[in-house]
Amino acid sequence: MGTPHAQRETHTGAATAIEVAGLHKSFGESEVLRGIDLTVRSGEVVCVIGPSGSGKSTLLRCVNLLEEPTSGTVRVAGTEVTDPDVDIDRVRRRIGMVFQSFNLFPHLTALGNLTIAQRRVLGRGKAEAEDVARRNLRRVGLTDKEGSYPAQLSGGQQQRVAIARALSMGPDLMLFDEPTSALDPELVGDVLAVMRRLADEGMTMLVVTHEMSFAREVADRVVFMDGGTVVEEGPAEQVVAAPRHPRTRAFLSRVLDPAAADVLEAPSPAQGTPPEERAAN
Ligand SMILES: Nc1ncnc2c1ncn2[C@@H]1O[C@H](COP(=O)(O)OP(=O)(O)OP(=O)(O)O)[C@@H](O)[C@H]1O
Ligand SMILES: [Mg+2]
Repeated sequence: MGTPHAQRETHTGAATAIEVAGLHKSFGESEVLRGIDLTVRSGEVVCVIGPSGSGKSTLLRCVNLLEEPTSGTVRVAGTEVTDPDVDIDRVRRRIGMVFQSFNLFPHLTALGNLTIAQRRVLGRGKAEAEDVARRNLRRVGLTDKEGSYPAQLSGGQQQRVAIARALSMGPDLMLFDEPTSALDPELVGDVLAVMRRLADEGMTMLVVTHEMSFAREVADRVVFMDGGTVVEEGPAEQVVAAPRHPRTRAFLSRVLDPAAADVLEAPSPAQGTPPEERAAN
């Protein structure tokens, strides 16, 4: 069993890694984020949970400015990324992002996928980039797969390559958007184990996930979003095991026991959004 992250580290006085304040995001008429305040301290693991369409991916995408916030501020390691004068590429280099779909280059081996951005973006030479790549493949348990192409790897292995690729850039913090939800159930555990180890090593992580046991065991804090707002946040154990807000309770009962929950609650309007209208992940 995992040691709760909070017991391994004290965050009192730790630097702020991410600070989101009054964040709003609209797409045309539709207001998807309605004033989000969220702080992640250095070394902290924060899991974001919530129904489909509640704005979780949009929040993550605003943190590294893949989406431009409509209003509000986002600071990453003290730098305001929403400042129009900021060198966003420099800030982005400090943020590793792992998506549901692994986004590996199909024509490159695992090693090639790990070295290309190091060389192009960080200007590392071949030997150094390969050295860093091999070290990170080892970290995710894929030492023997450096010569494999994505099509020769399982989904779980591809996702671990994607994590190793992000780590090879030497990020200060990592954003994960449902990293295991495209995987067959038997492959989920290996990816979660890698993420758990990263947490143990003190990596700052903001993780959108439906894996409640991971959230409960690994996260310091859990944030429940619904309808573009943070409805409830608190220590993982409290939010997942003893949620205070009725919407959190309804969501968790749906996630933890989907069959029973159908009877309990009609879907919220956000959940009724047709899939084709939702953001592509
Ligand atoms: N680029 C976009 N253009 C228009 N609408 C968008 C765009 N991106 C997201 N949305 C809308 O914003 C809302 C929130 O989407 P988001 O992807 O952030 O939700 P989510 O909580 O990540 O959902 P899921 O659990 O399904 O991934 C949805 O209603 C979606 O349709
Ligand atoms: Mg999403």
